[in-house]
Amino acid sequence: MPFPFPLGVTTPLYLAPMAGVSESPFRRLCRRFGADVVVTEFLSAEGIRRENEATTAKLRFSPDEHPIGVQIFGADPVAMGEAARLVTDVFQPDFIDINFGCPVKKVVKRNGGSGCLRDLGLVQEVIRAVARGTHLPVTCKIRSGWNEEMRDPVTIALRCQDAGARVLALHPRTRTQMYAGAARWEEIAAVVAALDIPVLGNGDIKTPADAHSMWRQTGCAGIMIARGSFGQPWIFDQVKDLLAGVPMRPAPGVAERFAIALSHARMAEEYEADPRGAAIEFRKHLGWYVKGLPGSGDLRKQLHAVNSLAQVEDIFSQYLARGPRHNDVAELLPLAEGAAA
Ligand SMILES: Cc1cc2nc3c(=O)[nH]c(=O)nc-3n(C[C@H](O)[C@H](O)[C@H](O)COP(=O)(O)O)c2cc1C
Repeated sequence: MPFPFPLGVTTPLYLAPMAGVSESPFRRLCRRFGADVVVTEFLSAEGIRRENEATTAKLRFSPDEHPIGVQIFGADPVAMGEAARLVTDVFQPDFIDINFGCPVKKVVKRNGGSGCLRDLGLVQEVIRAVARGTHLPVTCKIRSGWNEEMRDPVTIALRCQDAGARVLALHPRTRTQMYAGAARWEEIAAVVAALDIPVLGNGDIKTPADAHSMWRQTGCAGIMIARGSFGQPWIFDQVKDLLAGVPMRPAPGVAERFAIALSHARMAEEYEADPRGAAIEFRKHLGWYVKGLPGSGDLRKQLHAVNSLAQVEDIFSQYLARGPRHNDVAELLPLAEGAAA
């Protein structure tokens, strides 16, 4: 079955929904570097329907982000349906994605996110309510189950498809695992084999070669990358090269990497109302951009103290002025640590 929104590519690459990371500036950057589809971070259905200011602010996106999905979470089918209607009418994304994967305590204790996976009847009610609330395609992102005893990604995925999901993304870990252990790609292959709708593979793609391996091993219709995009949005272009069977573009050298980080920082500054707040919030990205560079320990320390874009520019200029060895093409960054959601 084809993807329910126009893409123009055979194997679409998705920037995964990520709280505090897949915000408008980063989504735009990843689109420029080859991501075919982007998804907002998860947003509470209650927050949306009550028009909570912080939630509504996160629904803003630019025309260059399409195709974009808005991800919502909640265990109340009525609230989820209303949130879907409001998002569709006011913000007009290309699809509505439902979060059945978030493992965070605050969310699961009210049966949101992966909490829903304990009750597949509820999962289906939520999907049907969202589908009634919007004319847009409804997609789902799931984990493999609540815990090892309830681990059954194929059944969960089939129930999602049966309730009307048009695309399904699987992060093959259970809620109890959080981020421990390896993502079981063989579960992605099993879900691909069982479903008629397109299945997106997600989990543990740290390098372009990992994405290629996942695609070959699972036959997934699309690939969703989360932590592997931290500090290296160009990973999408590189994956595209590997999928196309052409030589892979090298990762940018240090000077170019800094230019990309600064362009990202400028977009973040324009997007946020408060420039100092934007700089502070941006520190984590700076840490990721310089990870693996020679002398990155010191560099990170300096960058983690910045309060303005001008300070970042100075730190980068001083680093580049220090010597030619810093302009070597850097290795791809290792998988970022400290996954939060
Ligand atoms: C910082 C962070 C925030 C996340 N927020 C969300 C979220 O809002 N919605 C969601 O469905 N998954 C969220 N996730 C999970 C990712 O989308 C993805 O499923 C997971 O990180 C595994 O993929 P990866 O190995 O490529 O990182 C988050 C992950 C991280 C690291």
